[in-house]
Amino acid sequence: MSDQSTIRRAVLTGTGAYLPAQIVTNAEMAARVDTSDEWITERTGIKQRHFSAPHETATFMGAAAGRAALEAAGLAPEALGAIIVGTSTPDNAFPATAVQIQRELGAKKAFGFDLAAACSGFIYALSVADAMLRTGQVESVLVIGSEVYSRILNFEDRGTCVLFGDGAGAVVLQARDVAPGGVGVLSTHLHSDGNLADILYVDGAIGRPGMPGHLVMNGREVFRHAVSLLTGAVTEALTANNLTAADIDFLVPHQANKRIIDGVGKKLGLPPERVIITVDQHANTSAASIPLALHTAITDGRIKPGALILLEALGGGLTWGSALLRV
Ligand code: UT7
Repeated sequence: MSDQSTIRRAVLTGTGAYLPAQIVTNAEMAARVDTSDEWITERTGIKQRHFSAPHETATFMGAAAGRAALEAAGLAPEALGAIIVGTSTPDNAFPATAVQIQRELGAKKAFGFDLAAACSGFIYALSVADAMLRTGQVESVLVIGSEVYSRILNFEDRGTCVLFGDGAGAVVLQARDVAPGGVGVLSTHLHSDGNLADILYVDGAIGRPGMPGHLVMNGREVFRHAVSLLTGAVTEALTANNLTAADIDFLVPHQANKRIIDGVGKKLGLPPERVIITVDQHANTSAASIPLALHTAITDGRIKPGALILLEALGGGLTWGSALLRV
């Protein structure tokens, strides 16, 4: 129960990550398709990506990241209330990845479900978890982004296959009664525009006979929308909280392209040292990219307790959104 001086919030208590052992450099991609390290680096900032071995599925990687996040939070799996997984590359149509992870972790009392919002999957999952925690439906949620895009890439298309990689990131959110200026998720803002579906999509799935599905993207069009929609989403978060960009300690963006990230950072007037970049290390891991970046910056000591951080993402749908939280 909250008394009048406190407010119930979803508080970040742990993070975890998993990247497949196999690293594929730009030079190795250049041996596979007509591209070069120079082109990939200049246009995207990507230097390498991780590609999964057959056993490194969304469930396997998500469970590893989730286990690490629970350990960091000091929360026993048996005490966990719910698991939400943002993924577009599940092992099975069902059971959901989240339910398979529940089994792997021994999280006996947790319920779980997957959420499909492409590269915005983590922000969407965070938003749902935040609402469940604030309304008292659960006391703790493991939010995971886990993706194996190497399995949906068209390796004949150099315009897309060099951009993506595999991995998983996870956070634990727990309900806490905190002072209004204290820690926790302050806001989330979600958006979709189905009219822009044809600029970034997977051309099949289990429900489409004979079409397992490959990623298709009009990169130039996605790029054109990305900076303005993302700037809009972060401005919306700041306005809703009566804050300015100067109040933000770190921007932790979806890691798709360094030029998009730099564009948003510049529009906000944020110096580069306050923008977390990991896209060089793992390319675009879709729903996994924000928790991977967050985990990196928390474990290397850049993001310290009390920091105000702004998350943003845009992906297929189109879907996009932002989240503001104090860690
Ligand atoms: O997670 C959210 C979803 N994704 C994104 O946010 C990605 C958004 N888009 C982008 O990041 C960029 O548009 C790309 C990185 C995909 C492409 O960069 P660009 O500066 O927009 O390049 P472009 O598509 O305009 O292509 C420029 C040239 C073309 O050649 P011509 O027509 O100018 O002769 C392409 O054929 O680069 C060529 N090209 C390549 N060259 C070498 C395209 N892919 C490659 C490649 N290697 N891998």
